[in-house]
Amino acid sequence: MNKQVCEGTTIYYADEGKGDNVIVLLHGFCGSSAYWDDVIPLLSPHYRCIVPDLRGHGQSDAPKGAYSMEEMADDVLNLLKKLEIPQASLFGHSMGGYVALSAVQRRPERFNAFGLIHSTAHEDTEEGKEKRLKAVSTIETEGIKAFVDGMVPGLFAPQHLDSMADKVIKAKEIGYTTPPQGAVGVALAMRERPDRRDVLTAIPLPVLLVAGEHDQVVPAARAFTADKPNIRQTIINGAGHMSMMEAPRELAEVIKDFLAFAAD
Ligand code: MLT
Repeated sequence: MNKQVCEGTTIYYADEGKGDNVIVLLHGFCGSSAYWDDVIPLLSPHYRCIVPDLRGHGQSDAPKGAYSMEEMADDVLNLLKKLEIPQASLFGHSMGGYVALSAVQRRPERFNAFGLIHSTAHEDTEEGKEKRLKAVSTIETEGIKAFVDGMVPGLFAPQHLDSMADKVIKAKEIGYTTPPQGAVGVALAMRERPDRRDVLTAIPLPVLLVAGEHDQVVPAARAFTADKPNIRQTIINGAGHMSMMEAPRELAEVIKDFLAFAAD
């Protein structure tokens, strides 16, 4: 892993592959850059892949207190600036998608295309906001391991819990590395994020929306919200919320096809 201090925040990141075509992959909540381990080798022969541990996760800084999606987006923008990357394609998994939407909204000229992987531009529902507070309470009272053990099985398609038990364990082990104050800061940031559907429709960039057939966290009806010619919407059959682990080849193909369409 490499690291950069971006405006006082240390961000660790993987940097694989070479060339001017850069893609940035953002992981989801209680994940890390390691969420993308199976996808990076499929994309890095074609693109330079920058894969950060977002603030509050993995090895990156995890300050105390509530974060915001805007702050997390600025970390990504600052990292690209430090790396002297003028423009990139940005893909965010779930919570990483919320960060991606904020980054594109703040600095659209820094991106040539973006995608939400099992994510949504909607804000939290009232029920969802309540769940964030319960998550904070579980993390603070029972610890990150208990929280992650409760969360991870729901990320996978039910039929993969046994057949992909090794991947379920890997997702849990990544989750255990999340500093508790980081998980709390990010849960509160997700709770406060605004509806960003206008980013999908108003910003003239190619957009990829990927949903998993069996996603129990962000079902397709919530992932696919906009109807516009430059938006590509794709379902990954058989996958839950974790296609980067459950179906990495299919996801890499979807991303490559989309980037070919975006470059046209
Ligand atoms: C994630 O995978 O990042 C989270 O499930 C997203 C969320 O809770 O909204």
